[in-house]
Amino acid sequence: MKATFKIFRFNPESNEKPSFKNYSLEISKGITVLDALGEIKAHQDGGITYRRSCRSAICGSCAININGINALACRTQIETLNSPIIKLEPLPGFKIIKDLVADFEEFFEKLKKIKPFLITYSIPPEKERLQGHKERKIIDQALNCILCGACTSSCPSFWMNKNYLGPAAINKSFRFIFDSRDEGKEEHLDAVNQEQSGLWRCHTILNCVDACPKNIDITKNINSLRLKLSNP
Ligand code: SF4
Ligand code: FES
Repeated sequence: MKATFKIFRFNPESNEKPSFKNYSLEISKGITVLDALGEIKAHQDGGITYRRSCRSAICGSCAININGINALACRTQIETLNSPIIKLEPLPGFKIIKDLVADFEEFFEKLKKIKPFLITYSIPPEKERLQGHKERKIIDQALNCILCGACTSSCPSFWMNKNYLGPAAINKSFRFIFDSRDEGKEEHLDAVNQEQSGLWRCHTILNCVDACPKNIDITKNINSLRLKLSNP
C-alpha cells in the first residue's frame, strides 16, 4: 500500500505561518508512524524535525497528533489508521519549536509545581521505606505515566486556560498523595487545590483518558483527589 503523509512544517525563526508538505511512501506490514518518519527523513527530506528516543512506548518523547488524535508515533502502526492519507501535526495547545516538536518547557514547569517527589519527615528506616502490595496497587496505574503530554494537549480546559496544571501533572500528584509512604499530603494537596490552575478546572470531558497511551484513568484519579479534598 502507498500512503501519503501530510506533515506539518513550521520553523518559527524563518516561516511566517505553518504549512503542510506531502510525502508518498510505500508501506509494509507492521511499519509504525515513527518508522515512516525515519524513512521520509532519511530518503526524502532531511529537514523534517520530530522527537523520538526509545521507539518502545517508554520515553514518551514521540507523542504527536496523528489524523486528529494524540498518540505515540512509535506505537501507532499505519495499517491501524485505515487511511491512505496520514496527517501528522505537533501536539495541539503547545508552542511549537519546529515542525512536529512541541515545546514542553511549561509542561515541566507545571510538573515541578505539584512537587513530584515523596515528602517525608520521619527518620528514615535503616534500609528503605516499605510498601505493601495492597497499598502499591492503588497507585499502580498512575505510575505508568511516561509524561508524553498527550493528555494535557488534548484537554479543552488546558486550551482555554494555560495556567491550568493539566491532567498529566494532576495524575502525577495523585501518584504521590495516594502513596502510603508520603508524609507531605497537605503540601501535595495544596499544590493542586488552586482555584485558577488546580484540579477544579477539570470539566470531566475525558479527552485525557482517550488520549493516554498507557490507559490511565486520569479523570478517576482527579475525582479521587477532589473527594480527598472535600472529605479530608
Ligand atoms: S497520563 Fe498518559 S497521556 Fe498523560 S502524560 Fe502520562 S502517559 Fe501521557
Ligand atoms: S520513542 Fe519513546 S515513546 Fe515513542
